[in-house]
Amino acid sequence: MKRTALIAGITGIGGNHVARELLASGWEVIGLSRRPPQGLASVQHVVADLLDPSALALALENVSPTHVFITTWMRQDTEAENIRVNSALVRNLLNALSSKKSVRHVALVTGLKHYLGPFEAYASSGTLPDTPLRESQPRLPLENFYYAQEDEVYLAAERDRFTWTVHRPHTIIGLAVGNAMNLGTTLAVYATICKETGRAFQFPGSEAQWKGLSDVTDARMLARQLVWAADTDAARNEAFNIVNGDFFRWNWLWPKLADWFGVQSAGFSGTIKPLDATMANDHALWREIAQRNDLAEPDLDRLASAWHTDLDLGRPLEVMTDMANSRRLGFSAYQATDSSFFDLFERLRTERLIP
Ligand SMILES: NC(=O)c1ccc[n+]([C@@H]2O[C@H](COP(=O)([O-])OP(=O)(O)OC[C@H]3O[C@@H](n4cnc5c(N)ncnc54)[C@H](OP(=O)(O)O)[C@@H]3O)[C@@H](O)[C@H]2O)c1
Repeated sequence: MKRTALIAGITGIGGNHVARELLASGWEVIGLSRRPPQGLASVQHVVADLLDPSALALALENVSPTHVFITTWMRQDTEAENIRVNSALVRNLLNALSSKKSVRHVALVTGLKHYLGPFEAYASSGTLPDTPLRESQPRLPLENFYYAQEDEVYLAAERDRFTWTVHRPHTIIGLAVGNAMNLGTTLAVYATICKETGRAFQFPGSEAQWKGLSDVTDARMLARQLVWAADTDAARNEAFNIVNGDFFRWNWLWPKLADWFGVQSAGFSGTIKPLDATMANDHALWREIAQRNDLAEPDLDRLASAWHTDLDLGRPLEVMTDMANSRRLGFSAYQATDSSFFDLFERLRTERLIP
């Protein structure tokens, strides 16, 4: 049977890698976002704002996907606003597709804040969650936009009789420009600035993160799990964690990243040293580095998201993730984490985003 994928969030770090994986597996792919995607010539692009239901309905007039991949979110100042806005993104999309009766499966990408709590109470208050984070852990008794998005999918699935999967990555490592959270590119830009200025490449986070176990999600692994789930009957109506499948400690990885850039590594030094403050005055310097090296993106804020890297590396506990649910059903992909970073750095260089 012919399968057509609609990816909401095609320009994002999750969405663009899902598109590549689907295209490689022979799917017809339609991508939706407000900005045009880069380097995805075989994707049919639908320009639409998911917060504008009537324009959305018009934009999707001639589109009847069998599978929908939702990889969108919009950062708001409070969790109440996150819930209001991000549930609307999902609801408006599924409402716009409802009357077509073409949708058989919807995959929603959320993340580990499902277990760690929303940004406002992120692994910081009360009892810290048990690690490894497991799919069997119940929802926290806290308002969370991920729960609101899930609930929109469950409601629409009931109404329109499609199946669903939910995918919960840890920090995503992959290529995207102008997106909200990108730890890999943030560290690449920071290391480039260290190289240019002779500064040490200083770990910005907490002792728990420096010494404890961690894992990350290569965007290609997320994509592989999404496509696997779309192709696997036994995976229907399940939620899956998705990480690389190895564990590491930042005190092991950090010097390797420093070596790749040829900068001096400096580890946890007794206090958290937020990268947001360290890089706060580097905008003009980055513009100058970009000009001198003929780079594609002179705007530091479109590459680096230091606020998110600080949140991630500043956590007061080690965070690692169990993947029992998809492994039990046969998903056995694996990705070495040091290569996730090195492959991204190579791509950033090829795309002229770092020197
Ligand atoms: N990045 C990470 O490290 C990470 C880690 C764990 C979990 N997650 C979760 O993964 C999910 C996907 O995040 P992501 O990081 O892949 O997102 P992202 O890279 O920031 O991309 C967001 C996508 O949503 C689109 N979008 C936003 N608002 C839109 C609107 N009003 N109308 C149409 N499209 C809109 C953006 O496109 P335009 O701007 O072009 O419209 C973009 O394609 C989120 O729930 C996030 O919390 C992310």
